[in-house]
Amino acid sequence: MISDRSLKVAVLGCGSVGSQVVRLLREQADDLAARVGVPVELAGVAVRRLDAPREVDLPADLLTTDARGLVTRDDIDLVVEVIGGIEPARGLILAALEGGASVVTANKALLAEDGPTLFEAADKAGRDLYYEAAVAGAIPILRPLQESLAGDRVTRVMGIVNGTTNYILDKMDSQGAGFAEALAEAQELGYAEADPTADVEGFDAAAKAAILASLAFHTRVTASDVHREGITEVTAGDVASARDMGCVVKLLAITELIGGDVSARVHPVMIPRDHPLASVRGAYNAVFVETESAGQLMFYGQGAGGAPTASAVLGDLVTAARNLVAGSKGAGESAYAARAVLPMGETITRYHIAVDVADRAGVLAAVATAFAEHGVSIQTMRQEGRDDDAQLVLVSHEATDAQLSATVEHLQGLDIVRGVTSVMRVEGEHE
Ligand SMILES: NC(=O)c1ccc[n+]([C@@H]2O[C@H](COP(=O)([O-])OP(=O)(O)OC[C@H]3O[C@@H](n4cnc5c(N)ncnc54)[C@H](OP(=O)(O)O)[C@@H]3O)[C@@H](O)[C@H]2O)c1
Repeated sequence: MISDRSLKVAVLGCGSVGSQVVRLLREQADDLAARVGVPVELAGVAVRRLDAPREVDLPADLLTTDARGLVTRDDIDLVVEVIGGIEPARGLILAALEGGASVVTANKALLAEDGPTLFEAADKAGRDLYYEAAVAGAIPILRPLQESLAGDRVTRVMGIVNGTTNYILDKMDSQGAGFAEALAEAQELGYAEADPTADVEGFDAAAKAAILASLAFHTRVTASDVHREGITEVTAGDVASARDMGCVVKLLAITELIGGDVSARVHPVMIPRDHPLASVRGAYNAVFVETESAGQLMFYGQGAGGAPTASAVLGDLVTAARNLVAGSKGAGESAYAARAVLPMGETITRYHIAVDVADRAGVLAAVATAFAEHGVSIQTMRQEGRDDDAQLVLVSHEATDAQLSATVEHLQGLDIVRGVTSVMRVEGEHE
């Protein structure tokens, strides 16, 4: 009986997040014991290098490089996985569950690639698998989707779920900086990694989009189902163009229901400056949820960082620990709806398009015809400059992404068009 003894926790990884989990476990031991009902004891910490400097003081006898040995110890009740990546994290989580431990993880990459294998293992073992920290760090968003909104119907989720790209786009907007300049500044200040690919190409946000889509729509969506475009092609001109329209450029993870199917995508968008997501500055994250009954909800906060992420991990740990003490288990995966994921071409969007054109008679008609031929109607069109400098800036009404990209291709083939200089989707206004 756990209620007669302390609950033993193994932590896998002691880096940015793990060190803060370990610190909080020890500093808040009294509160945690009161909240769980029994003492919560740190039983071991697995790392790769025993002699690496740590942000937390740890008795040497708690540290081990034998992660598998630690998770399969008979006395371990709960395993926190904060190593990251696919292997050995997956094998260790499966071994922990098989051994009868509940698991808390912050590993978005693994959940987005192979969540169902982990959920099935947790179900089979009758144990919990929680992962609040995997999406938007400290922000409570997964539990609200799974529990608080379980009686409602979610129709759409749009999130700024990557702090690095939000920081870069915010710099481009507020200082008129180009992408390369804003990225260099983000790297200098520690907001971007030396290799920023996972962030700026949208891989990190796509993993989170898959997790959000699965939970919001009770289905299975993996990272490879998510249409992904990063921000490397966003220019200072795009950002200025957005500003002229009263918009701001953001990288959004968007998932929504379209005719019963799920659309899941990550790409830069222009959103109106009065949209709640437009006010999310710097490296902050926010998730905007639309539901049938609750209407619009916004969840905002720090999406990364050791202590903020550890807060989410500890929240899961307390919930899983309470369940162990009560001899119960939380709700597992809910994928009963088994929805199809729409190809990007069938997703309904709007486009902002800037076209360099020759300033001569018939240009407007030719451009309008290109739109009409693909069944896309134009919401606004304005001309900027004259002669060699003439540019048309158009915003479409909603159409499928395939219709819109065919229109752009058509425009590129017209001899009166010198170039399509900016193409960006527009979100945040319902038609
Ligand atoms: N950092 C954030 O802000 C944040 C936010 C949300 C989610 N997350 C997620 O949290 C997880 C951890 O991220 P992090 O930033 O804390 O990573 P990190 O700083 O790189 O730390 C990783 C830790 O794992 C250990 N490790 C690596 N391979 C191992 C192995 N084979 N066996 C045992 N230990 C091993 C490392 O040991 P050594 O120290 O000995 O090298 C290190 O302590 C990832 O899934 C990440 O996506 C992070």
